[in-house]
Amino acid sequence: MIDRLNEAVEFIRKKAAASCFKIPELAVTLGSGLGSFAESSHKLLEIPYCDIPNFPCSTVAGHKGRLILASDERSKKTFWIMQGRVHYYEGYSMADVVFPIRVLILLGIRKYIVTNAAGGVNPNFDAGDFMIVRDHINMMGDNPLIGKNLDKFGPRFPDMSTAYSRKMGMLIQKSAMEQSIPVKEGVYLALSGPTFETPAEVRMVAGLGADAVGMSTVPEVIAAKHAGIEVAGISFISNKAAGMSGGPLTHEEVSENAAKIEEKFGKLMERFITLVLEGRDG
Ligand code: HPA
Repeated sequence: MIDRLNEAVEFIRKKAAASCFKIPELAVTLGSGLGSFAESSHKLLEIPYCDIPNFPCSTVAGHKGRLILASDERSKKTFWIMQGRVHYYEGYSMADVVFPIRVLILLGIRKYIVTNAAGGVNPNFDAGDFMIVRDHINMMGDNPLIGKNLDKFGPRFPDMSTAYSRKMGMLIQKSAMEQSIPVKEGVYLALSGPTFETPAEVRMVAGLGADAVGMSTVPEVIAAKHAGIEVAGISFISNKAAGMSGGPLTHEEVSENAAKIEEKFGKLMERFITLVLEGRDG
């Protein structure tokens, strides 16, 4: 595994060397339908996932699948954008799902912002809301750290008591307030998918303490926390979870609702990234 990771690391390092490479301390993953932030970013380098040795290539509609080295014009610092991700439900192993974040960890990141589209389980959440992820519940039925521990990254039994950074959560809050964007806060619960939930499953996850439900994010956060990376999560509530609003759920609805908030999401992310790169304290 380490050899496969190192091959990808070396490939990216060589490509990046040409663009005045200062090691970025931050990486951002853009989830379903949230990729337009990448379009408007100042790009120094773009690498399709499929060009990177051993990298899993994205297959889901709405996911472009490329790694971008971007520059934040305000802080004058660089950061990585992963536009699109691969999912467990596509048939990838957990090791594949966390391969990209592990490559970026080996490239030197210390902070990670993960975004996703999720169904709103909390009855106070509406389609179009943003939720700062305060904590997560892993109900995917698998864990990327199962198997031989990769000591290079972290310990056998990593602490998850502060999986999501309070400090970074406060910076999301600050970015949102500055721009009058309302944000909620809550617990993200991950199921394997690819089916959306039944109404009974939605009632179950609500009872377990979830505010939003989705099919991603948790594996990457586990792999990042394993390596001591500071993590922040933002869920875009693309729909009320099944049975809470009446109609059937479709991937098109998720994508259409994401398109409606892409500008707001872009503004929120841009400011948040600047605050993180400037090392603000929330
Ligand atoms: N359930 C699971 N995953 C999702 C949903 C949902 O309702 N919406 C977007 N991703």
